Amino acid sequence: MYRTHTCNDLRLADAGKTVTLAGWVAIGRDLGGLTFVDLRDRYGITQLVFDMDDNAELCERARRLGREFVIQATGLVRERASKNPNRATGDVEIRVTAFEVLNAAKTPPFTIQDDTDGGDDLRMKYRYLDLRRNAVQQNILFRSALSLETRKFMAGQGFAEIETPFLIKSTPEGARDFVVPSRMNKGQFYALPQSPQTFKQILMVAGFDRYFQIVKCFRDEDLRADRQPEFTQIDCEMAFVHQEDILNTFEGLTKHLFRTTLGIELPDFPRMTYDEAMRRFGSDKPDLRFGMEFVELTAQAKGKGFPVFDSAETVLAICAPGCAGYTRKQLDELTEWVKRPQIGAKGLVYVRYDADGSVKSSVDKFYSPDDLKVWLQACGAQPGDLLFLLCGDDEKTRKQLSELRLEMGNRLGLRDPKVFKPLWVMDFPLLEWDEEESRFFAMHHPFTSPKQADIPKMESDDREVLAGIRADAYDLVLNGVEIGGGSIRIHDRDLQSRNFRLLGFTPEEAEAQFGFLLGAFEYGAPPHGGIAFGFDRLCSVMNGINNIRDFIAFPKNNQGRDMMIDAPDAIKQKQLEELGIALKGA
Ligand code: AMO
Repeated sequence: MYRTHTCNDLRLADAGKTVTLAGWVAIGRDLGGLTFVDLRDRYGITQLVFDMDDNAELCERARRLGREFVIQATGLVRERASKNPNRATGDVEIRVTAFEVLNAAKTPPFTIQDDTDGGDDLRMKYRYLDLRRNAVQQNILFRSALSLETRKFMAGQGFAEIETPFLIKSTPEGARDFVVPSRMNKGQFYALPQSPQTFKQILMVAGFDRYFQIVKCFRDEDLRADRQPEFTQIDCEMAFVHQEDILNTFEGLTKHLFRTTLGIELPDFPRMTYDEAMRRFGSDKPDLRFGMEFVELTAQAKGKGFPVFDSAETVLAICAPGCAGYTRKQLDELTEWVKRPQIGAKGLVYVRYDADGSVKSSVDKFYSPDDLKVWLQACGAQPGDLLFLLCGDDEKTRKQLSELRLEMGNRLGLRDPKVFKPLWVMDFPLLEWDEEESRFFAMHHPFTSPKQADIPKMESDDREVLAGIRADAYDLVLNGVEIGGGSIRIHDRDLQSRNFRLLGFTPEEAEAQFGFLLGAFEYGAPPHGGIAFGFDRLCSVMNGINNIRDFIAFPKNNQGRDMMIDAPDAIKQKQLEELGIALKGA
């Protein structure tokens, strides 16, 4: 037996027992007559003590233990003289009578503790050492608990877990595909799934009724803190259901996961249409942990001779509570912040509502204190508050002000990671106009059903009318992060063809790409719909962390590289030839 207990098991009540522990040497301290070693395993840390007076030879050997050596130690549990209240085992130590080095270790390139001295790249290269750190390990174990609880809940709701293939053809999620060359079909490629979308719909045609899968998806897109090229979805599909059934099921799943892993009871999730979210927050994934809602000041701000506002389509404001004391320097810095290319605003107008009731703005030349008071009133500002105004093209201004709102939320400490505000955003537009390509794309994906009442609009040639078609599509948003998205699907071949037409597919293109699905729809497709949660994002938001990498055992860096195994990598000429993607001697 390698061990009788883990490094987190022993308490004062165990004093007097002879135990055997196994683990890694976290740290050793040589105090002359006594040598202390902290022994670590996945469960915790226990202090070992070696006493010169007990056994000088053993103590000498203990002094030579290096960090991260794997050892097995046997000894007597005893009460510690100086206790460590920050550790579950902090009341006891093991007086070691025998130990064995199971494996020596090189000195690790960074310290394996919460506040490590290792930089990002180094930790990724030695990810197995990084994963030994308690904080990272807890994240991975949280993820494990979350997937087990997901399976429990879904099984309880009668869902069947069914695997779908990874070597497939292009899926319609709108990112670039990762492709895999086929040796047996030279010159041809599989695509890795961006999601199991088409397969799960076919499973509904096959009659499985309630499907789910915790599944890897692959998307070749620019990486960010909340995006990885391979990530995991909780993917689901249901037949003979309405939107309401899907929302209730997945609201139930989310509540179950919060309850069982964090002990938090979430109230019923509020709902908001896409239009309302854009109007009030300039975003389809508003962070509801704080207010600072948009106030439209276009009518009040125009016509007073300020050319910037006069020529703008929209003038919008937010009210930053308690910020009237902002210094010139702070305001200049925020102005520079909104003018950065990532935000792209031309400038920032502010109105200070001082505690004594006086009003001062960056546009005093054009607006009287009474004019400004009208704005303050419209924004519900109190003395001590500060208004920020942005203007320009409606869509762009909303996006820019949304970024500023989030930034002010951060600066004012209003985005508490321990507060959770879920929200269903509903009724997304069916189509999204792409200026560059001068055509419509599916806002969700091409199988998303328009709202029944909007189907006649699909016959229109008017871009405005088409852009106004709403879909039975919804997102789950949590603290400003899009956790999941789904829709009711089109299950009628004619409607699907009409939708493809709007998306600029010729019937031949639609047939070539999705013929298998359209064909399946002719053999009795039930009404169906579904949703997919971003599992990595759910893990990170539930822990108040904004980088999903922390919850993936072996993530890629921002260049899409796995630093540990050093992938992607070149392959041998012979392999290329076998795959038929390189000419001999090339
Ligand atoms: P969608 O494309 O909205 O929908 O994806 C669902 C959820 O997956 C997460 N996600 C990602 N997470 C990490 N890295 C990425 N690169 C990444 N891309 C997406 C997000 C997102 O909300 N088949 C549809 C679902 C359906 O209609 O049922 C789909 O994949 O949290």
